[in-house]
Amino acid sequence: MAPVNVKKICCIGAGYVGGPTCAVIALKCPNIQVTIVDLNQARIDGWNSEDYRLPIYEPGLVEVVKQARGRNLFFSTDIDRAIQEADLIFVSVNTPTKKSGVGAGFAADLNYVESATRRIAAVATSSKIVVEKSTVPMRTAESMRTILEANSKPGLRFDILSNPEFLAEGTAIDDLFAPDRVLIGSLQTFEGKSACQSLTNVYANWVHTDRILTVGLWSSELSKLAANAMLAQRISSINALSAICEATGANIEEVAHAVGRDTRVGSKFLRASVGFGGSCFQKDILNLVYLSESLHLPEVAAYWRQVVTLNEYQKRRFSKRVVDTLFNTITNKNIAILGFAFKADTGDTRESPAITLVRDFLSERAHVTIFDPQVDESQIWLDLSEALPDVSINQIKNQVTIAKSALSAAQNSEAVVVATEWKEFKDINWQAVYNTMKKPAFVFDGRMILDGDALRQIGFKVITIGRGDKL
Ligand code: UDX
Ligand code: UDX
Repeated sequence: MAPVNVKKICCIGAGYVGGPTCAVIALKCPNIQVTIVDLNQARIDGWNSEDYRLPIYEPGLVEVVKQARGRNLFFSTDIDRAIQEADLIFVSVNTPTKKSGVGAGFAADLNYVESATRRIAAVATSSKIVVEKSTVPMRTAESMRTILEANSKPGLRFDILSNPEFLAEGTAIDDLFAPDRVLIGSLQTFEGKSACQSLTNVYANWVHTDRILTVGLWSSELSKLAANAMLAQRISSINALSAICEATGANIEEVAHAVGRDTRVGSKFLRASVGFGGSCFQKDILNLVYLSESLHLPEVAAYWRQVVTLNEYQKRRFSKRVVDTLFNTITNKNIAILGFAFKADTGDTRESPAITLVRDFLSERAHVTIFDPQVDESQIWLDLSEALPDVSINQIKNQVTIAKSALSAAQNSEAVVVATEWKEFKDINWQAVYNTMKKPAFVFDGRMILDGDALRQIGFKVITIGRGDKL
């Protein structure tokens, strides 16, 4: 069987992964028609909006959509039609951590993957290559194949591939244009390898074949979990060292630089912070913990679990440092939080450490004012009500204000806390901020982005993560 020449692609799930990934595929493969579908009409309307008010913020994404939309890139809620027409289908639906039942708090909820797979089986009238794009537990491909084979029309063939996405939010377009690698997993059968070649040919339109790695299905599924777990482990390692720095007067930036200069370690992903967030790291590690436990490997499970435990500790340690520094109480004090997204250059707040900080400050009965350049106000209220299920939204709103600028957030506050590394926070008129604040005016830099010495010259008391400097 020769590899299928892919002419039409359908992507189920128009989120942070499916949207940018398939928009770039459309841009780079003008001869392939790409249709991105989603159940959520508002999301699709956003993708189709005339003024390009796309549902997600990602630098460079609007330019990609402008070039390809209407040419060979389409967004639709007509899922069945897109499935029927496609040769190849990406499944990019979300796989959140289960909230109840077996594996609650650890295992991935595969409900959406299963329902997308069942939909494909129910409506497909021709053979398809079905690609797992969502990060899934190992051997999900097998379940997908069983569902497809048991429910489809006779004579149809479904080849399942695993093609995990490694893009990071905020740099998604650059990551997709020039990926370190594209990973494609397939069954090592003749048919599996042939399907793998079909997808390889799609990426080969712009990615050098040296960078397209083809492996077995299970290796591919595990590699995605392993990559995220190892990246997160580096952050927890450096954050654990930041606690030692604060206690001893060492400087974590100097330590990270010295360690990272060893080419065996490398310098990337060693930035101490108030903790990692995002939709992937915690979820994928918990997934790995669950997998290890299911395989009766408790030591392995405990090892990975500690990466998440340390991250929780880092967030708690930081909020405690704020309280301790502000003379052991923040009750009725005004705290300005700069940044609510889980990292810079995204409006995404999933698992953002800022949520934990606000929750901790509210439990100390402080007043919190939040400013983020990209996060919608409604999203902040949603996140805070989820983080504080026992507190009514009105009570939350009594204690929290959302500001339109960093300067107005800081007005009349005792402390400014930097929770996200937005570049623009470096360029705030800090003198003006100082003038509006109560004295002594404290700045807590949870992202190591500010020039502490310049702020001290103005008169601020500055506390930076990973530094034990005297105020
Ligand atoms: C993705 C992956 O799917 C997840 O496994 C990975 O770990 C992180 O990235 P992401 O794109 O960030 O998720 O999720 P989200 O932005 O929530 O988008 C998923 C979309 O799928 C949503 O717009 C949702 O409406 C849609 N969806 C979900 C469907 O269209 N059909 C469904 O059955 C379920
Ligand atoms: C991550 C992976 O990088 C990506 O390959 C995968 O596909 C999805 O998960 P993402 O979560 O979008 O991407 O962002 P990433 O840049 O990895 O940052 C994750 C979190 O770690 C953020 O909260 C970030 O601020 C934090 N971080 C990152 C640090 O605290 N220190 C660092 O040195 C790097």
